[in-house]
Amino acid sequence: MTAPSLFSPLTLRGTTFRNRLWVAPMCQYSVEERDGVPTDWHLVHLGGMARGGAGLVVAEATAVLPEGRITPWDTGLWNDEQRDAWARIVSFIHSQGAAAGIQLAHAGRKASTHRGQEGRGAVTPAEGGWEPLGPSDLPFAGLAEPAAMSHAQIADAVAAFGTSARLALDAGFDVLELHAAHGYLLHEFLSPLSNDRTDEYGGSLENRARIVLESMKEVRRVAGENVPVFVRLSATDWMEPEGWTLEDTVALSGWLREAGADLIDVSSGGNVPDARITVGPGYQVPFAAEVRERASVPTSAVGLVTDPELAAHVVATGQADAVMAGREFLRDPHFALRAAHELGVTVDYWPTQYERGTFADRPA
Ligand SMILES: Cc1cc2nc3c(=O)[nH]c(=O)nc-3n(C[C@H](O)[C@H](O)[C@H](O)COP(=O)(O)O)c2cc1C
Repeated sequence: MTAPSLFSPLTLRGTTFRNRLWVAPMCQYSVEERDGVPTDWHLVHLGGMARGGAGLVVAEATAVLPEGRITPWDTGLWNDEQRDAWARIVSFIHSQGAAAGIQLAHAGRKASTHRGQEGRGAVTPAEGGWEPLGPSDLPFAGLAEPAAMSHAQIADAVAAFGTSARLALDAGFDVLELHAAHGYLLHEFLSPLSNDRTDEYGGSLENRARIVLESMKEVRRVAGENVPVFVRLSATDWMEPEGWTLEDTVALSGWLREAGADLIDVSSGGNVPDARITVGPGYQVPFAAEVRERASVPTSAVGLVTDPELAAHVVATGQADAVMAGREFLRDPHFALRAAHELGVTVDYWPTQYERGTFADRPA
């Protein structure tokens, strides 16, 4: 069997992706009404990258509960109005031949913050924000102190992941991704740096992983057998050995596979501001490779993969099953079509309207 290439299709459960160059989830903080309903901005932003040849477009961290939003301007998916607005966007993504995914998220102790334009740090309840929740009352430096979640609040969050999954499927999404990375709620439970609980949700690795596995099982129950479910993990807090480690990630990835996860989207960091991160081209690829190899689960690699040759190399060498790119798709929403062109791969999904864009050496 020949090795897969960046532009060979990939099938996970009932979904076939036309290629393995995917759009990473990227918050837009653009819901001006603050009601979680995606807008024309989201349609054009996500639709443009679907038109641009991506195999999968993953919509931004979308809150499963109002208090799970990073900022008041985040998208959400807890009601029918939000579902219907997403359905329009999904329909356009599909019309361009891409699969549509959504990252279901709860921001935990990093909720209720400013988006940058208006200020920094926490948005207070007086300014229209709210008190954030977390596993413990340990704040993320510079943000509000969270309230440690009760058992009922944990159960509500797990159930909300299921409700959002149902709404996402009704909106037509092909892929559901659980956001368990970057220092948001699920990652906060995983890491001893943010979780000092003494009940069954804290302490041992099994206990810290409990809410993640409960959420995974709930989403799989709702999704049935046909829908791929991904989980984004931070492979490390970059604070080894005291923080969340790559060893922990490998163990959790195996448990997630057993609980019905189809792919681990391997990122890193985000849980503490003073992490010691070494950054360079493809810097998180070795984490994706190790998880894939040792936990026997498909992975995607993300993080400074901007060169088509590097993306192709990651897939061809079996370090990951797919590559996600974020900022390169912001610079060029047609990054996937451009990558195919630069790699000399012929694809049959140039939009008809844009086909003359491929004529480089003759009159238009
Ligand atoms: C504008 C922006 C918003 C982002 N929002 C999210 C998000 O909603 N969820 C998430 O998991 N990562 C988010 N990220 C991280 C990206 O998904 C990605 O992992 C990161 O940008 C590294 O990939 P890149 O070097 O290809 O940009 C965001 C990144 C950017 C630039």
